[in-house]
Amino acid sequence: MNAETLSAAAPYIIQQHYYAYTVEQHSVWAELVGRVLPEIEKHAAREYLEGFHIIGLQNDRLPNLAAISARLAPRTGWNSTPVSGFLPAPAFFEMLAARLFPTITWLRSRESLEYTPEPDIFHDVFGHVPMHAHCVFADFLQHYGRVCATISDAAVLEKLGRLFWYTVEFGLIRQNGAVKVYGSGLISSHGECKNVMDGHCAVHDFSLDEVLNTPVKVDELHKLLFAVSSFDQIYEAMREAEQWASSGRL
Ligand SMILES: [Fe+2]
Repeated sequence: MNAETLSAAAPYIIQQHYYAYTVEQHSVWAELVGRVLPEIEKHAAREYLEGFHIIGLQNDRLPNLAAISARLAPRTGWNSTPVSGFLPAPAFFEMLAARLFPTITWLRSRESLEYTPEPDIFHDVFGHVPMHAHCVFADFLQHYGRVCATISDAAVLEKLGRLFWYTVEFGLIRQNGAVKVYGSGLISSHGECKNVMDGHCAVHDFSLDEVLNTPVKVDELHKLLFAVSSFDQIYEAMREAEQWASSGRL
């Protein structure tokens, strides 16, 4: 499936008008990257850092989504597809199932460098897209979309939303005896990353049961997050969650 064959998500697909970005916007991007990159180079998972180079992110220029997708295509087939804003769940899941990552094209202003209530291109591309170059993570993300697209029970979807939150958005991994970040909300927020690295957040070993029973709080820094030992673990957790959903255990 490609962007032309979407149904639920079709109204949200837009073009990225790359050459309409202003000098000021490229400069804000450069400042955002400059603020977090030293921390990220120290604390990000190696797969994130590899992905950062694979997709060709530049420190001083906003990313061109078509160029990024061209670099991802031969590795995992994921595509960063420009969308107009926040997607309703069916449209979001439909896109993930098709390996199309809904990507916001607007960038926060200089006045909101640390925080923006809605995701922007910095969160979506700098935060999310490098991990799409990793084969196991890429398969997990598509499978997540496929499974969720078949579920209509809101309570089950809320639980599966916690799996997404504590992996894709705020996931941690243990590598060489240290806790590393790979979730986009940690990667793209200096404050969230520092909160974990300064030890203000408990880190439990990833357990699907505990993750599914830990409600998401969006109005404060995290007090509890979960560390996997490998990305195979989140892929396997998704398959297990799928079985739990189909057997009524969720
Ligand atoms: Fe996100």
